[in-house]
Amino acid sequence: MGKDTTSRHHAPRGRAVDPHARQEVEAVLNGLPLDRPLLIEHLHALQDRFGVLLPRHLVALADLLKLAPVEVFEVATFYAHFRIADDDDALPHGPVVRVCDGLSCALHGADALLADTTARVGQRARVERAPCIGLCDHAPAAQVGRRAIPDATADAIEDRILSGRYGARLPAAIGLAQYRAEGGYALLDTCRAGVKTPEDVFTHLDAAGLRGLGGAGFPTGRKWRIVRGHPGPRMVAVNADEGEPGTFKDRHYLETEPHRMLEGALIAAWAVEAEDIYIYLRDEYPAVHALLKREIAALDDAGLLGDVSIHLRRGAGAYICGEESAMLESIEGKRGLPRQRPPFVAEHGLFGRPTVVNNVETLHWVRAVLEHPPEWYAATRPRAYSVSGRVQYPGVKIAPSGITVRALIEQHCGGMAERHTFAAYLPGGASGGIFPESLGDVPLDVGTLEPHGGLIGSAAVIVLSDQDDVRAAALNLMRFFAHESCGQCTPCRVGTTKAAALLARKDWDRPLLDDLAAVMRDGSICGLGQAAPNVWDTVLRHFPEAKA
Ligand SMILES: Cc1cc2nc3c(=O)[nH]c(=O)nc-3n(C[C@H](O)[C@H](O)[C@H](O)COP(=O)(O)O)c2cc1C
Ligand code: SF4
Repeated sequence: MGKDTTSRHHAPRGRAVDPHARQEVEAVLNGLPLDRPLLIEHLHALQDRFGVLLPRHLVALADLLKLAPVEVFEVATFYAHFRIADDDDALPHGPVVRVCDGLSCALHGADALLADTTARVGQRARVERAPCIGLCDHAPAAQVGRRAIPDATADAIEDRILSGRYGARLPAAIGLAQYRAEGGYALLDTCRAGVKTPEDVFTHLDAAGLRGLGGAGFPTGRKWRIVRGHPGPRMVAVNADEGEPGTFKDRHYLETEPHRMLEGALIAAWAVEAEDIYIYLRDEYPAVHALLKREIAALDDAGLLGDVSIHLRRGAGAYICGEESAMLESIEGKRGLPRQRPPFVAEHGLFGRPTVVNNVETLHWVRAVLEHPPEWYAATRPRAYSVSGRVQYPGVKIAPSGITVRALIEQHCGGMAERHTFAAYLPGGASGGIFPESLGDVPLDVGTLEPHGGLIGSAAVIVLSDQDDVRAAALNLMRFFAHESCGQCTPCRVGTTKAAALLARKDWDRPLLDDLAAVMRDGSICGLGQAAPNVWDTVLRHFPEAKA
């Protein structure tokens, strides 16, 4: 992680628990069980209350949880959203302002916005540069406290601070009553009533061809069958971390129709006989958090949860926690370090139990797929493309798998933005590589971009124009990876930082970059380190003018 973990603060060893600090912590945690897996929730509660984490509170929390203080400190320092101050520092009085510097926002003036905002409100708020916050269709974007500021300007940010209102604002989603009135949860009832068997569902999903939409594209029916094949108890974990730069589809689905995902998750739980569903939601989506909390409570009130408990967990600003095993570690209250495999999470997942991990969008489609004959979905395999960058109308576009980027731009985005000519694109956010316009007719699907050095991933399509510099784009992405590497594998930790330095040079050192790519691909545990070289590899391959 790109966090400073070596600052002057934090002397965890040998500190006595301050009784007053202990009382303060107990008061803040009022009602939250003192369980280790809830550590990140505890840290959020403390930071929400005091604006920062204070060492005396962390020591008291460790004592309450019966953990060594160092365990609490190492978790707190891993996550970018936690900020540890000194015990005698004055508590912050203004909100944190996060100005997104993801690629889409960078194309729309993020640097200037950050400078203007810092100059304007730097005395009244803590202004930070933030990795992609999932508002790429409204770039440049920012957050003031828990409030999203789409199409941000320094004026809008200052007005929001002056208003003193920067809590999350609930989206106008389809609530439980309307969802049920439109046939929602009938399918779940049918499953629970025994009209369908789990095997019917697995076979149907297989025949329809539903594959995971979080990035890896694993067939969903097969995944569920594998999990059910391992001895219980089993778990379901919903991946709502959505950290891939350029991706905002899960936010869209959750803000508009959260019950589609919830019904999909409950069907998964029924199919694998899980009694617990964990939803891991990125901390950048506080409005969705409030909405899900409300709708889960409504489900409970309506008796629709049956024997299942749904646990909503808040991330804390770590892209790596989207990687499924890191996500499970984080749900267990630990640092988000990806696990070595095997064993795979389907066998040894959350709390050591066989676990279905699915992306929000995968679960969103489950109801529609199962309500139609398999051919319905199989015919076009629709999915959401998060389109941003230089198009006229960015946004979430539901289109067939295999559509080309050219068709997406022309048929779904109103063409290119004024005065911009299509020059290049990213099909899968930071991990999927950068391609020239001449490859604009390659179908966007699992397996089609690999021969060209990239991948579709979560279908985060960022469109670049003749006015953009692909090398600057590559540098933006590599700085993101260097910031977000969890640091566990040397090739990834050192390699991403080294690559960022190499890509910042005027002339790119191709032999050195090729060597680095080979070492990172071979020596990295997870997809972050393995896919990061796609960035420069595709630029060197497809944009000869970028060569040294
Ligand atoms: C570095 C990295 C980040 C990832 N981030 C996400 C993410 O934010 N959301 C997601 O659903 N999957 C993400 N994935 C993929 C997950 O590991 C996993 O494949 C997915 O959640 C499985 O769900 P699915 O089969 O429904 O796609 C990421 C993978 C890697 C290697
Ligand atoms: S590849 Fe990178 S992000 Fe993944 S486990 Fe290794 S160091 Fe961490």
